[in-house]
Amino acid sequence: MSSINYSEKIPNNVNLSEDRTLQRALEQWQPNYLQWWGDMGPDGSQDFDVYLRTAVSVDPQGWAQFGHVKMPDYRWGIFLNPAEKDRKIHFGDHKGEDAWQDVPGEYRANLRRIIVTQGDTEPASVEQQRHLGLTCPSQYDLRNLFQVNVEEGRHLWAMVYLLHKYFGRDGREEGEALLERRSGQQDNPRILQAFNEETPDWLSFFMFTYFTDRDGKFQLCALAESSFDPLARTTKFMLTEEAHHMFVGESGVSRVIQRTCQVMNELKTDDPAKLRAAGVIDLPTIQRYLNFHFSVTIDLFGADQSSNAATFYSTGLKGRYEEGKRTDDHQLRGQSYKVLEVQNGMLVEKEVPMLNALNEVLRDDYITDSKGGVERWNKVIEKAGIPFRLTVPHKAFHRNIGALAGVKVSPDGRHIHDHEWNQNVESWLPTDEDRAFVASLMGRVVEPGKFANWIAPPVMGINRQPVDFEYVRFN
Ligand SMILES: [Fe+2]
Ligand SMILES: [Fe+2]
Repeated sequence: MSSINYSEKIPNNVNLSEDRTLQRALEQWQPNYLQWWGDMGPDGSQDFDVYLRTAVSVDPQGWAQFGHVKMPDYRWGIFLNPAEKDRKIHFGDHKGEDAWQDVPGEYRANLRRIIVTQGDTEPASVEQQRHLGLTCPSQYDLRNLFQVNVEEGRHLWAMVYLLHKYFGRDGREEGEALLERRSGQQDNPRILQAFNEETPDWLSFFMFTYFTDRDGKFQLCALAESSFDPLARTTKFMLTEEAHHMFVGESGVSRVIQRTCQVMNELKTDDPAKLRAAGVIDLPTIQRYLNFHFSVTIDLFGADQSSNAATFYSTGLKGRYEEGKRTDDHQLRGQSYKVLEVQNGMLVEKEVPMLNALNEVLRDDYITDSKGGVERWNKVIEKAGIPFRLTVPHKAFHRNIGALAGVKVSPDGRHIHDHEWNQNVESWLPTDEDRAFVASLMGRVVEPGKFANWIAPPVMGINRQPVDFEYVRFN
């Protein structure tokens, strides 16, 4: 079960050939997917041979095989983690019952919505990142970008498989619609706002893969608890791919910081103007990018109080992060949780029923997790002997969803008046000038082992290859 059949048109470990109707439906979707990849996938890269990893099994050890492939020939397919024998539902109203191998009629609409919303983010990020290859800081980074892109494409396959197999005709229609929406397009945008923002430069890309792919991790972890077993199994395998995306982000930002600190020490200055003149990104600009990506991403968890979140949990569709490791009753009735709101011009905590606050619970778990990498970035600055620290802004800063939407809060968590916001916003969020400066650094470096001036080389290469390995052959 865990090994993947590559002899079929659609690689899979779900015995696809035994379900002719499904196989035919997916084989009809496949050319449309490839058409989408051609139109919206990495710009001008169709002919490159890229050193990519491909899944060969879903075992935790040794699932990946590395080799040069043209991206349109990448073997996208359907990989589920092995079924857990006699798996039981372990939270919500159905706790203790057998996990579902099929979609219960009464939850069909909600499950479809959850799967479509997750599925929509996958092609969206490929679209957001499609021009980045033209300004890559190195071959190594270019290869990592493409690896992330092909895996997001595979995540789309994962969700489309569920739609086709379990949702009949509406599932097939949703599968088509996933190829029709476009990130940032006015008349047919992607479903979630963060996936309609541009990823215009590589600092944004690294911030996105650190912060926004981590949102993906938390959503997938919550779905990996689902009572709908096929969803749990497919998201478990997606999570193994997601880890690399967050590594790309964390190490990318870390290398930008390392290079900046090196130049700060060489020039003995912390003056942003001098550092910019030397072609590196000053730390306050990095902080502003961090503030932007963090705040836009935590909005993705949804409104702090949500009856949908309660329903998804109680009906067993979506659990909490690490549901199985928690020691409460896994039903949460009568329990409460603190959310923030503004009262008399002050941010205050308010107790609300926990079931309604599950978006906030997941958001808070995410925030704890995302602080870890920021601390590791600070270690780089500390090691360079520079007295500057990056911080994660307060969770009420720059929010656009829920009770805090549009409320003016400083990064250190003070509710402030409009004029204080207006006076300071340019030091808190990236300005047009910041973005133009970062954009001005984005040249294209493709010689093996060479890196753009604004970023340090990685400590080691991919799959134990040297840093100057030919990760991409341009043909
Ligand atoms: Fe993904
Ligand atoms: Fe990802």
